[in-house]
Amino acid sequence: MLIDNHGRRVNYLRLAVTDRCNLRCFYCMPEHGNEWLQRKELMTYEEMLQICSVLVKMGVDKVRITGGEPFVRKGMMRFLSDLTKLPGLEQVSITTNGVLTAPLVPELKKIGIHSVNLSLDTLDRNRFFAITRRDVLPDVMHTLEALLQHELPVKLNTVVMDGKNVQDIKPLVELTKELPVSVRFIEEMPFNGSGDHNTHLPWDHFRILEAIREDFPGIQKVPDPANSTAYHYRIPGHKGNVGIIAAYTRSFCGSCNRLRLTPQGVLKTCLYGDGVLNVRDLMRAGTGEAVLQQTLTKAIGSREKDGWEAEKNAAAISSLSASMATIGG
Ligand code: GTP
Ligand code: 5AD
Ligand code: SF4
Repeated sequence: MLIDNHGRRVNYLRLAVTDRCNLRCFYCMPEHGNEWLQRKELMTYEEMLQICSVLVKMGVDKVRITGGEPFVRKGMMRFLSDLTKLPGLEQVSITTNGVLTAPLVPELKKIGIHSVNLSLDTLDRNRFFAITRRDVLPDVMHTLEALLQHELPVKLNTVVMDGKNVQDIKPLVELTKELPVSVRFIEEMPFNGSGDHNTHLPWDHFRILEAIREDFPGIQKVPDPANSTAYHYRIPGHKGNVGIIAAYTRSFCGSCNRLRLTPQGVLKTCLYGDGVLNVRDLMRAGTGEAVLQQTLTKAIGSREKDGWEAEKNAAAISSLSASMATIGG
């Protein structure tokens, strides 16, 4: 078991496999995209498998594949299939925008992917285009259908944006009536690649909940799974549930069980702040497993206690100017 210097069990790795994306969600990156990493800067699949294998031996039992958009990277299915075979790794989950995912769903089910988090900010084609700058809502909806058809557990991620998709809250909650999905409304975080960050958040957890309650007065709080980012609610009679992720106003630090690896191999022991070491460079220098383990143990033994508090208090909120796609969320 991996325990950090503040007594928190660390068992969850968020692995960003690419910084590239086929959408341009305005809250995440500019219209022209980011300055993409060169291919040689990315960890290879072999390197990702190696570092996952080491971390799993140390106590990580859940890996979430993020990006960018994981499925824009060639060879992803083969990698996922190899990853799911790592002994001791209980869950491999994926966060995807769903644009390319629908045809892959049967294979994802077959190789034993545990669950899929699907980004979906609106059910309206015009608003989808306005938010993502790409007209591909039908492809994403096909992914949702395929996931349900193949009984892969699915959570929807909806970033709530003032003046952009507030009218979607009601129809998205309505989806939970007949569908066994978790619809999670997320407070917008200032990670849009522009460096601008507005500290005033019009749609915080409280306001999102009140908006839902107006249309669904019976909404009830239900218990949250351990280490969940979302507060869960249910509406009596609905098959699915509703979550609110207070990504901006709440600190998850107290129970944070997460490590992050960026596509170029930077280990982040906290979402905020800089990376603590580069595992790709260590592996490319031929570092053996024992030394990798020692180095990782040391990094996990010096984690920030409350990175969000430190970040808020910092005069320059530097890491907050990064695009979410370069961090993996
Ligand atoms: P699971 O609990 O594994 O389902 O993952 P998740 O819900 O955290 O993952 P997902 O990739 O679907 O992300 C949902 C939202 O939570 C995104 O907006 C993430 O950026 C945000 N998020 C994930 N981890 C953290 C965290 O440690 N702190 C904060 N503030 N937000 C996070
Ligand atoms: N604020 C909140 N959530 C964000 N995501 C991407 N950028 C932001 C942001 N600025 C979410 C996406 C995706 C998840 C990995 O992160 O909606 O579902
Ligand atoms: Fe792509 Fe996700 Fe960023 Fe949207 S939020 S541009 S889908 S990485």
